[in-house]
Amino acid sequence: MDENDNVLDEAQKDAEQAENSRALYEVKMKYLGRTGRITALLKKMKELAQEDRPAFGKKVNDLRMLLEARFAVLEEIIRQKELEHKLESERIDVTMPGKRKREGVLHPVTRVKNELIDVFAGMGFEIYEGPEIESEYYNFTALNTPADHPARDMQDTFYVTDEFLLRTQTSAAQIRVMEKKKPPIKILSPGRVFRSDDDATHSPMFHQMEGLVVDKGITLCDLQGMLDEFARSVFSDSSKTRLRPSYFPFTEPSVEVDVSCASCGGKGCSLCKGTGWIEVLGAGMVNRHVLENCGVDPDEYTGFAFGMGIERIAMLKYGINNIKLLTENDVRFLEQFKD
Ligand code: PHE
Repeated sequence: MDENDNVLDEAQKDAEQAENSRALYEVKMKYLGRTGRITALLKKMKELAQEDRPAFGKKVNDLRMLLEARFAVLEEIIRQKELEHKLESERIDVTMPGKRKREGVLHPVTRVKNELIDVFAGMGFEIYEGPEIESEYYNFTALNTPADHPARDMQDTFYVTDEFLLRTQTSAAQIRVMEKKKPPIKILSPGRVFRSDDDATHSPMFHQMEGLVVDKGITLCDLQGMLDEFARSVFSDSSKTRLRPSYFPFTEPSVEVDVSCASCGGKGCSLCKGTGWIEVLGAGMVNRHVLENCGVDPDEYTGFAFGMGIERIAMLKYGINNIKLLTENDVRFLEQFKD
């Protein structure tokens, strides 16, 4: 019977050592668990004489209840302490300045590219993206560029091998589309192009957006109508376009397209160098040799093509004076292009 008192003392000491609810639980199991001290005591009942058993049983049961009550009190104390500790450690000082979440923005080139895609997709154009490494055939030959044309020179074109090069223009995609698809064709082809060129308005890598429409009865008027729509959407409601004669081997006739200067409204300013017009793209009617190269009958179908520099459009639209700003990835510059 004395052992009962010992158990109580020991349990008390053990429990006082327990620093957290996990440790306390272990102590509790040591005494009240299935293989604990109380169970061990009850097992000893067998060794007792029959008449001593009820008294012994009652004692052990009393002890169990006592222990349960004590553990309940201790558990509550520890639980309370742990809660206080948790609240203290998770305390928020609402007077501290908040942590600012920096939100990214789309790069101006991406923005303009998406905007152009929106405008032309609205007119029914589909997107086709060609490869950045092209063969001479797609980049020059099929585009009716003579073998001795200066654009093919090493100075202008980055050659990868004798036959392959980094495309200098998205016009290469025109050929790929016409080879695969029969007219009517109405595609838009955005992408990176590469030229050995480097100053404030030229970068060795830049982006172009090519457009190609081939169908029966397509004329230069269709081209200008679409470009007017493009200028109004991208620059201003009152923007106009003007076509000037030009030359590209793959278009005939060829034109340079100017947009009325959105900065001065056409009166003449430093941006448009006093002319009221800004050159934005090259275009023309697809040269019949190019159609023939792709197996399209030039007597049945006609088409127009245009190609614009996306950086150039972005620079005009946002008043950016150096193309290098678009590749330096200076966050102070980029974060100005928020919606
Ligand atoms: N590929 C020409 C350039 O890079 C632009 C262009 C495209 C001109 C389509 C006419 C037709 O300058």
